Amino acid sequence: MERALESMDCSTPRRLSEGQIMTEQQGFYSKVAEKFGGYSSGARRTTSYPQGDPEEEFDALVHELGSATGTLLDVGCADGLNLLGVAPSFGRVDGLDLSPEMLASAERHRAASGLDHVRFAVGDASATGFPAGTFDVVTSRRGPLFPEEFRRVLRRGGSVVYLGIGERDVRTLKETFGRGQLYGRWAGTPVALEERRRLEDAGFTVDYEREFSYDEFFHTPEDLDRFLQMVPIFEDYDTASDREAFDRYVTRATAQEGIHLARHWFVLRAQLTAGD
Ligand SMILES: C[S@@+](CC[C@H](N)C(=O)[O-])C[C@H]1O[C@@H](n2cnc3c(N)ncnc32)[C@H](O)[C@@H]1O
Repeated sequence: MERALESMDCSTPRRLSEGQIMTEQQGFYSKVAEKFGGYSSGARRTTSYPQGDPEEEFDALVHELGSATGTLLDVGCADGLNLLGVAPSFGRVDGLDLSPEMLASAERHRAASGLDHVRFAVGDASATGFPAGTFDVVTSRRGPLFPEEFRRVLRRGGSVVYLGIGERDVRTLKETFGRGQLYGRWAGTPVALEERRRLEDAGFTVDYEREFSYDEFFHTPEDLDRFLQMVPIFEDYDTASDREAFDRYVTRATAQEGIHLARHWFVLRAQLTAGD
């Protein structure tokens, strides 16, 4: 099954109310789903993982926590493709997302997979509506992180696995454009540390933390353009009006393997220890 590889960080703090952020997120991803039919742009790229593949590591950690009776909630599941990849390790799986358009695509993928124990629902990860103590595992793969709500829906001993976008992700691209998600954050507190603290403040014990720097090489400028249309690195990205910055980046970042993007992601796993 093809895996989605597009990136975002829903937890980026911005000077907006929570309601505004959610409406923006929903609008952005719904447009992406309408345009691309899901969460995969088809942009061609070659990837090199000198420190390992963070998505593979995330999947391995989630599989390890699975069991035949285990329950998994994935928030920000988008088109569900990645969730369906780990779903066979669990007895019951729920995928939640703000975007009905993404979930329509997820339901199509689920039907094709024949995985009857997986359900998708439109919902907000900050107030999921599930009864307390429903899940053994909550995952968020480049989706939102709401530690208090995750704690509420987890049973004692349950775990969170989170894949996040680091502060150095595509830094040169953002510097060339002069804007972008997490713009300027490279000088501040590392995002992984901030997210770790948020989990600890909510009563979790972080028992796994790893950062991954890796390289992507887009085969042509058209592939990079297609990619930028579907990720929220620049939520307002526009092929025509961003042409000048785009061309400057392509000139600067073209290598033998393609147009280079330097990625920086991280994976955290945290447990609700006994007595919580
Ligand atoms: C980068 S996509 C992640 C896709 C998916 N996890 C994957 O790995 O392919 C982020 C998703 O999170 C969803 N999202 C953002 N904020 C959310 C929230 N508060 N509650 C539920 N879903 C949310 C968006 O609609 C979007 O589909």
